[in-house]
Amino acid sequence: MRVLRSIAAMQRLAQDWRRDSARIGFVPTMGYLHAGHLSLVREARRRVGRAGKVVVSIYVNPTQFAPTEDLSRYPRDLKRDLALCRKEGVDVVFVPNDATMYPGKAEGKYSTYVVEETLAVRMEGASRPTHFRGVTTIVAKLFNIVLPDLAVFGAKDWQQAAVIKRMVADLNFPLRIVVVPIVREADGLALSSRNRYLTGRRRAQALVLSRAIAQVRRVVRPAPVSAGRLRRVVQRVIAAAPDARLDYVAFFDPETLLPQTRVGRGTQMALAVFIGRTRLIDNARL
Ligand code: PAJ
Repeated sequence: MRVLRSIAAMQRLAQDWRRDSARIGFVPTMGYLHAGHLSLVREARRRVGRAGKVVVSIYVNPTQFAPTEDLSRYPRDLKRDLALCRKEGVDVVFVPNDATMYPGKAEGKYSTYVVEETLAVRMEGASRPTHFRGVTTIVAKLFNIVLPDLAVFGAKDWQQAAVIKRMVADLNFPLRIVVVPIVREADGLALSSRNRYLTGRRRAQALVLSRAIAQVRRVVRPAPVSAGRLRRVVQRVIAAAPDARLDYVAFFDPETLLPQTRVGRGTQMALAVFIGRTRLIDNARL
């Protein structure tokens, strides 16, 4: 396994691979890898085959964090991440730094961004107005550096995957986006690098997200229900945890992300909840 830190080296290697007709599968991450990330890596390997190449990027991208968010304390453990990647048979881990990805940014010499203007507006986009601009920009840059045939994303960030698919279609990136299911702990908590922030009492309270989804499922199973009523169901579940605060809950079409007022089987549900200062998200098809 190789660890590359420069764009030129990564791009040159990707070009060599493409010349040799090796398929490239790419998994972009911010590191602090867990079983959710590793399921993406396995899917990439499954799709490109043994003759193909799997690239994982590890980069905590500052442009997708607002100044008030957790950029500086975002968990990092490169040594452990590299060991996990090696065990998964990853070919290359691309680990750029800020000076590499955004040269001249501090001096105002970085000024190009990619903005998706429809799918990125609600939910995460409403709560974190500059977030998706950072995500689409860094992912577009990484695609131009890694030159993948396919890139794998997790359903954990359902809206992010939809925004990336739209960007790829709109800007004609010659690659396929693959989305894999959410990996959860045995008790239902969706794996996230940010779960690291949760200790004891708060770890237990984090179960309100998956519990809210389960409760909504039970309510809509017999027959469709209004989004308003379901919102109250969710608020009740969240209120049972003293340190939990609902940021948003949304019921929407899984492809268009358009809000649905009558919610039934097949509707997508997403929510964001603060547990203390830690913001967690989850989603599911009802
Ligand atoms: P990060 O949060 O590290 O997630 C990297 C990828 O892992 C994303 O596609 C995410 O959806 C997926 N993932 C995270 N937790 C998962 C889980 N429990 N089950 C399945 N997949 C999971 O998402 C980002 O990084 C960044 O926004 C990035 C795309 C790398 C751009 O900076």
